Amino acid sequence: MGFPRPVRPLALATLALACGRPTPPPATLTATALRGPADSLIPSGPLGASIRRGRALLAATRDSLPGHVGNKLRCVSCHLDDGRRQSGSWVGVFARYPQYRPRSATVETIEYRVNDCFRRSMNGTALASDGAEMRDIVAYLWFLSRDVPVAPAQPSNRLAKWGGLTPDTAAGARVYAAGCAKCHGSDGGGTAVATPLWGPHSYNIGAGMARVRTAAAFVSENMPFDQPGSLSDQEALNVAAFVNAQPRPDYPDKIHDWPNGDPPPDVAYPTHATPHR
Ligand code: HEC
Ligand code: HEC
Repeated sequence: MGFPRPVRPLALATLALACGRPTPPPATLTATALRGPADSLIPSGPLGASIRRGRALLAATRDSLPGHVGNKLRCVSCHLDDGRRQSGSWVGVFARYPQYRPRSATVETIEYRVNDCFRRSMNGTALASDGAEMRDIVAYLWFLSRDVPVAPAQPSNRLAKWGGLTPDTAAGARVYAAGCAKCHGSDGGGTAVATPLWGPHSYNIGAGMARVRTAAAFVSENMPFDQPGSLSDQEALNVAAFVNAQPRPDYPDKIHDWPNGDPPPDVAYPTHATPHR
């Protein structure tokens, strides 16, 4: 494993979940609250083994699936705490698919969505939809969605608030140097404790995290890793804009994104349907 985990500040919340007595976390901790069914509910036998194998693949993605990962990230680099962190959570995700998404303008299955993150966030290649690895990953996502009713995804405008602020990349460079470089490296290439944020081993430009508002929301809720919630909204947006202004792998298929010409405002690249951006 390339990335030893820093000490997790939420041992207490984990303990409460593990005991099956989920107590609501104090308001100040909601950004990092852990969610979903207790591990003790993982069944024994072959189904439980599949769920556990899926979780292991999501945590050791590069070591387990080297042919499908083109960078130094793992799935849980962004879906923190095995996908149980409130921000970027997989809890309930299985129940929201199939889902129509405008980026592909198709009804996507959960397997398609998982492969989207393989191709973009991991700068890699898709898994076979009917293979054992995908089966186990989907088994874990299914487990995390236990007791969540199957229903259409609710439209969300959680990124809208970022539209009211103007990013300042130069100010973002100062936030980076002061609060991020010690873990992610002054050249953005990562260190022994944290993953790259730009350069050849990072997510590619077709990834959700390459959108400034998506990155601002992630950073604001989860970073710095040891002090989540300590940045102002303006600082989070500035550092997201700085990080996403740095070079990273291309994603040639991005030209086919949003074929109906309806990309969100923070998508930085032209497409066939929206040639001038
Ligand atoms: C660089 C960060 C990053 C990495 C690494 C990453 N993802 Fe994602 N993932 C995202 C973002 C951002 C979203 C979109 C969340 C949103 O819509 O707000 C997302 C969405 C998803 C969704 C859909 C969630 C939903 O609610 O619809 C799934 C499933 C998913 N990722 C699985 C994976 C898997 C499996 C891997 C590893 C192969 C992975 N992700 C790696 C950033 C990442
Ligand atoms: C104390 C160390 C630490 C600090 C400080 C820190 N991070 Fe992180 N960051 C991490 C760790 C650990 C991960 C998760 C890596 C993993 O589990 O694979 C992470 C993940 C990320 C990710 C998603 C994964 C990726 O590489 O794309 C982004 C984006 C990110 N951090 C941005 C920032 C920004 C911006 C700052 C400064 C505001 C920051 N971080 C400060 C430790 C840190």
